[in-house]
Amino acid sequence: MPEITAVRGFKDILPDQIPLWRLVEDKARDLARRFGYLELRAPVLERTELFARGIGETTDIVEKEMYTMEDRSGDKITLRPEATAGLVRAVLEHSLATSGRPTRLFCLGPMFRYERPQKGRQRQFHQLDVEVFGDPGPHIDAEVISLLCAFLTELGLTDVSIQLNSLGCPKCRPIFREKLTSFLKAHEPNLCPDCQKRLIRNPLRVLDCKVEACQAIAANGPDMSECLCPECQDHLAVVTDSLGSVGLRYVLNNRLVRGLDYYARTTFEVHSGYLGAQSAVAGGGRYDGLCRQLGGPDLPGVGFAVGLERLIMILAQTQKLESLGPDYYLAALAPETLGPAFKLAHQLRLRGLSVEADWEPGSLKSRLKRADRLGALKVIMLGPDELANNQVTVRNLVTKEQTILPLTEINLF
Ligand code: HAM
Repeated sequence: MPEITAVRGFKDILPDQIPLWRLVEDKARDLARRFGYLELRAPVLERTELFARGIGETTDIVEKEMYTMEDRSGDKITLRPEATAGLVRAVLEHSLATSGRPTRLFCLGPMFRYERPQKGRQRQFHQLDVEVFGDPGPHIDAEVISLLCAFLTELGLTDVSIQLNSLGCPKCRPIFREKLTSFLKAHEPNLCPDCQKRLIRNPLRVLDCKVEACQAIAANGPDMSECLCPECQDHLAVVTDSLGSVGLRYVLNNRLVRGLDYYARTTFEVHSGYLGAQSAVAGGGRYDGLCRQLGGPDLPGVGFAVGLERLIMILAQTQKLESLGPDYYLAALAPETLGPAFKLAHQLRLRGLSVEADWEPGSLKSRLKRADRLGALKVIMLGPDELANNQVTVRNLVTKEQTILPLTEINLF
């Protein structure tokens, strides 16, 4: 162990994991192109107020999990715990949603939450975040869910389930809130200390509590679906019909409230059996009041985020990715061939080939072993004899065929 190690909950992504990360990121970009979503790269640092107002003062994220500091000029800043609030800010700041048509965006990158690290939970983690601004209708909710499903399916995930709920709107949610509050009041002494506070400040958060006793109480509480107004019922019906029409299966879960306060109407989560306790691989929903809450116009929004570490944990268990070796391993077999080998490697690399070499002479046996370990397709051997004759020997490591080529014919490679 070095004297200075990585910060707890912050992980290095090592070279052997990169092929899976590339696979996931390439698939995200491919689907974004097919569904018409444009990439926006927002900063990882924002003003603290953006998250406090956006995510909700009484959420765990804002109350306990943010990396917040003062910069040298005394401004309060926070490492983003999620991407949605930052994207809303960027959309408003750059007037990206003024055309009257939906603005479809995605963002890939690290998020930061001061949570207790465990399997599937880190303090720095990565998300694919997808958002649509400016469309209040239910089909766009179904579109983002269908994009999420296509992303997971095309990556080969099978053991996933989509849970879907509607949290109602400012018209019908207060009715549910009132019913829930009077139900919870009757059970107040048995709620955890956090939920006793939540009961006063934000009773819906009790539904999201991880403490078993609170979950058991909430399970017998009032049903959100029975409080939905006709507009919210119709909205949910079109979302479910649209998902059904493209063969997507979901489970309605009327306890699904999510850990962020900005949602209204549609909310959803995707869980995987491969993940253990932290089983949510993705989550999202509609947040029509968020832009206004952040000082902008009434701009509806809907989106989701996928936790990439969790997704990659599943892929690592279910997929075997061949890591590709270089096209060539260049073996300089004597000290005097090092210089010409260096020149040759450079020329080949400029021509677009991948070439690996070690800049110390070695025996043929050790070089072949090394090429094999690297997974090279061919070995170019440059020993004193080859150099004297202006030639190289090329061995195909798959077919074991060996040919001698004049250095001038290196174009044939
Ligand atoms: P979220 O549910 O907080 O939603 O996070 C989305 C996903 O990020 C989770 O399902 C999980 O896979 C992953 N995740 C969250 N925290 C951690 C952690 N500490 N370690 C590893 N992975 C984690 C949001 O962030 C919303 N902004 C989603 C959204 C977008 N809603 C609308 N638009």
